[in-house]
Amino acid sequence: MTNLKNDLILRVLKGEKTERVPVWMMRQAGRFLPEYRVLREKYGFFERCQTPELATEITLQPIDRLGVDAAILFSDILVVPQAMGMEVQLVESKGPLLPAPIQSAADLSRVSVPDVHDRLHYVFDAIRLIKKELNGRVPLIGFAGSPWTLLCYMVQGKGSKTFDEAKAFCYQQPETAHRLLQMITDTTIAYLRAQIEAGADLLQVFDSWGGLLNEQDFEQLSLQYMRQIVTALGDRVPVILFAKGAWFALAEMKATGAAGLGIDWCVSAQKARSFAGDDIVLQGNFDPAWLLAPTPVIKAKTKEMLQAFGGHHHIANLGHGILPHVPVDHARAFVDTVKECTV
Ligand code: CP3
Repeated sequence: MTNLKNDLILRVLKGEKTERVPVWMMRQAGRFLPEYRVLREKYGFFERCQTPELATEITLQPIDRLGVDAAILFSDILVVPQAMGMEVQLVESKGPLLPAPIQSAADLSRVSVPDVHDRLHYVFDAIRLIKKELNGRVPLIGFAGSPWTLLCYMVQGKGSKTFDEAKAFCYQQPETAHRLLQMITDTTIAYLRAQIEAGADLLQVFDSWGGLLNEQDFEQLSLQYMRQIVTALGDRVPVILFAKGAWFALAEMKATGAAGLGIDWCVSAQKARSFAGDDIVLQGNFDPAWLLAPTPVIKAKTKEMLQAFGGHHHIANLGHGILPHVPVDHARAFVDTVKECTV
């Protein structure tokens, strides 16, 4: 874990005061870089995930291009449902498709808690290769989807604005839903533990759809399972919880023992701080669409964001993933502004 030439993000997550705020961008690996699009023409999505050399190349692209302070593994949250036995496709310009979603208790017989070393060995192979190629330049972030967000896809079978079918399943068949959530949680803990063993320096759990739930349902369907993940792994490496739209639960998420909490752009730094308290790292929260503004505006807005967080207990990031059509020099304006700024 030592031997890192840049351990800024790890020091911030330990609560230390640092010379400047670290920066990375959610979904920086893949999506917007032209050199990624070249690989996208040549190889299928899961082929890119399952080939350690390709995953390594894509993971390193934003480090080489933008000089961000952390690398995030190139993979996808949906490799977990796949490893549990479900078919997952990625349909060009449409997104994920799971042709045989879970709809009943009987369907649970089609999924299992797999041996992750067997089903997901390509991820751990990629992590080992990435660590070697990074050669200590920056820490590597491992990740997984939250159990609730994975249930959304496993039940709905595709992306959705409301995930109404996933919610109906939970509200109509709560016992089956909780059995499934526990299976996903058990798989995820084993999966993330193996990511740490392969070399991940810190972890982020993406709860992209946590904000679709009310406070009580968020606790029942999402947070109680993320809590199990943090409890199992949080003393080994720092864990960041990012529950998009769930700013109402920042205090409860902090109480899990997470080292950092991601926030989206819909909550101000000041409000997030008042909910979460002073002694927790907040990560975020630049509106990804502001990266489409002219670069002088991006710089001014980035400085505004840094000032709002006050330069301490902060990891600069976007409030959600970078958009696919963001020009590289716009992303660089964001990263450079953070790196030049000593608030
Ligand atoms: O952050 C990174 O750069 C690392 C890789 C990463 C991917 N997906 C690669 C990917 C990560 C961390 C994810 C997380 C992910 N995947 C989430 C949670 C974060 C979020 O954005 O809310 C979710 C909900 C998914 C599910 C998923 N995978 C969707 C909805 C899609 C299609 C649309 C999209 O986001 O691009 C994917 C495919 C996917 N995962 C791509 C990439 C680079 C696009 C593949 C391509 O078309 O080239």
